[in-house]
Amino acid sequence: MKTIIEPFRVKVVEPIRMTTADEREAILRRASFNLFQVRAEDVIIDLLTDSGTSAMSAAQWGAMMRGDESYAGARSFFRFEEAVKDLTGYENIIPTHQGRAAERILFASTATAGDVIPNNSHFDTTRANVEAGGAVALDLPCSEAAALQSKYPFKGNIDLERLQQTIDRQGRQKIPLVMITVTNNTGGGQPVSLENLRRTSEICRANGIPLYLDAARFAENAYLIKLKEPGQSERSVREIAQEMFQLADGCTMSAKKDALVNIGGFVATNDSNVAERMRNNLILTEGFPTYGGMAGRDLEAIACGLGEILDEDYLAYRLASTRYVGRHVSQLGVPIMLPVGGHAIYLDARQFLPHVPTEQFPGQALAVELYREGGVRSVEIGGVMFGKAAQHDLVRLAIPRRVYTQSHMDYVVEVVEQVYRRREEISGMRITWEPPTLRHFTARFDWV
Ligand code: F0G
Repeated sequence: MKTIIEPFRVKVVEPIRMTTADEREAILRRASFNLFQVRAEDVIIDLLTDSGTSAMSAAQWGAMMRGDESYAGARSFFRFEEAVKDLTGYENIIPTHQGRAAERILFASTATAGDVIPNNSHFDTTRANVEAGGAVALDLPCSEAAALQSKYPFKGNIDLERLQQTIDRQGRQKIPLVMITVTNNTGGGQPVSLENLRRTSEICRANGIPLYLDAARFAENAYLIKLKEPGQSERSVREIAQEMFQLADGCTMSAKKDALVNIGGFVATNDSNVAERMRNNLILTEGFPTYGGMAGRDLEAIACGLGEILDEDYLAYRLASTRYVGRHVSQLGVPIMLPVGGHAIYLDARQFLPHVPTEQFPGQALAVELYREGGVRSVEIGGVMFGKAAQHDLVRLAIPRRVYTQSHMDYVVEVVEQVYRRREEISGMRITWEPPTLRHFTARFDWV
């Protein structure tokens, strides 16, 4: 088999400013060792997130020129609506400025204090929006998800038994909806199987509870189903994605991931009553229902991106590049979460730095070293982000879509390798200042 190449040519380039080790040392000190406080122009390879960082295609930029900026009933809205309906089959499509706005509007329109929202794993903003209304965000990941090294292919699955028990215990009146996050970002970008979605859908329908997808990375999930699930390899990814959406009654979407745009989102539902409440809510903060916090040109870019994301040559390249990094760092003996998911590699910092106690934030120490070594920016997902509740200390290397080439990824592997070779010299970190909430964004650190 031949190398899976980037299925695009580069038309516009954005220079990367190279920095020296001395410069990076000074930059880290100025940022108090918090990578969120480092300026993007001081980063060589930015793997902080895959959200809103995609490179748009010539077709998307072209479509933006067609943007209809009318306040009401813009042409661009109808193009957007048609693209989303064609993919999801849902009746009511409501644009929002990004995923968390869709979540806020959905939960404000469906959940009340004391309700319970089960999910395979809530993303942070989803959890925060559930909890903002006094409801409980319940994570029910499958048991295979706990073992970082287990190669079970669908570690994103929800635990069906615990879902049924939760419904039996709480009663369906307390569960306004069940959510499934595809792929499961909090759980390592792991996919959910079609089988698991079908059974979740059956349980929800038997109990009269609506099912919603958090569809941020639906195409990566659908492609992983095609690659790994028995009986799915002959179907098109579009067909699999359409079935995923049809098993649910609605979805929220951060278009900043699998719609290949820099900003945007939507919430969709088959329930016209919920849709009416959501549209009223939308007008308060997002905007009129035919633009919902976006410009007409953004709607055009999403409509176009939702077609491009299902191109199987693109998806083959996308998954190949994530696996490429995973395979190469694994071969060096670097401990990572397995199997490699859709959008990121997760380094296991507790195993990488076994001499650094968890109170000394091994994930933060490792993320700082990757920057110091080669200007690679990643994100700590562990003790800094979640405090004592953290079950792991991970460092996520999220790969932006269509942005970096294979030599950029080779560089990342080399940086990881160099840090790994001198891992015994790396010391832990302590927090010197922290804000009352969401400390990972602004906390200050120093070496222990
Ligand atoms: N759902 C999932 C699964 C996500 O990963 C995100 C964002 C959101 C919802 C919220 O969407 O950012 O458009 O408001 N994840 C980003 C990340 C921030 O880095 O993983 P948003």
